[in-house]
Amino acid sequence: MVQIAPSILAADFLHLEKDVLLVNRHADIFHLDVMDGTFVPNISFGFPVVEAIEKKAEKPLDVHLMIVHPEKYVERFAKAGAAMISFHYEAALEASGTILEQIQSLGVKAGLVINPDCPVEKIFPYLPQVDFVLIMSVFAGFGGQKFIPESIGRIRSVRAELDRLGRQDVPIEVDGGIGPDNAAAVVAAGASILVAGSSVFRAQDPPAAIAAMRGC
Ligand code: DX5
Ligand code: ZN
Repeated sequence: MVQIAPSILAADFLHLEKDVLLVNRHADIFHLDVMDGTFVPNISFGFPVVEAIEKKAEKPLDVHLMIVHPEKYVERFAKAGAAMISFHYEAALEASGTILEQIQSLGVKAGLVINPDCPVEKIFPYLPQVDFVLIMSVFAGFGGQKFIPESIGRIRSVRAELDRLGRQDVPIEVDGGIGPDNAAAVVAAGASILVAGSSVFRAQDPPAAIAAMRGC
């Protein structure tokens, strides 16, 4: 089953409730991008926004941490209502396994994220442990970028390794430049959670864009 995770980074912050209700009604997951201005050259939003969304959300909250020292903040994001928390391999390196465990011990699904310039094999040692993998199809930091076509091969490689490990049930999430034009290719490569910011919130008809990506 393909799940659509609209990225709130592209939502209308003056009318956030309207976009929260759109996700409740038409999509599957809230994708929440947290940026610290250090791991990535941009700053987005933090706890107050996540907590506010949680009050109205009827779908799970997926917090994508683009921050240094994710281990310092995972507990607070779990308390804020996250059902899924992911952090970047590039921010954690050999601490990745410990941080995945920390997230799981909070009763939250733990995901490892990889940027486009990092060889996918680097995360293979953690695939027996992850609850999901997030493959960036643009460089983390900004919405509205163009999908990097080489991401397709990277999704295939991670899917093949997960399958080889007998972990067919572990979803691959893809993030960046996803829309109705490339969703089918990303799903065919082995992804099942599609993050979409601009292609949902800047669409003329957001519910139709979501349905198109879901393939129905
Ligand atoms: C980028 C973020 C994405 C972003 C996606 O760093 O992780 O979630 O909001 O936006 P679009 O879909 O516009 O590329
Ligand atoms: Zn994201």
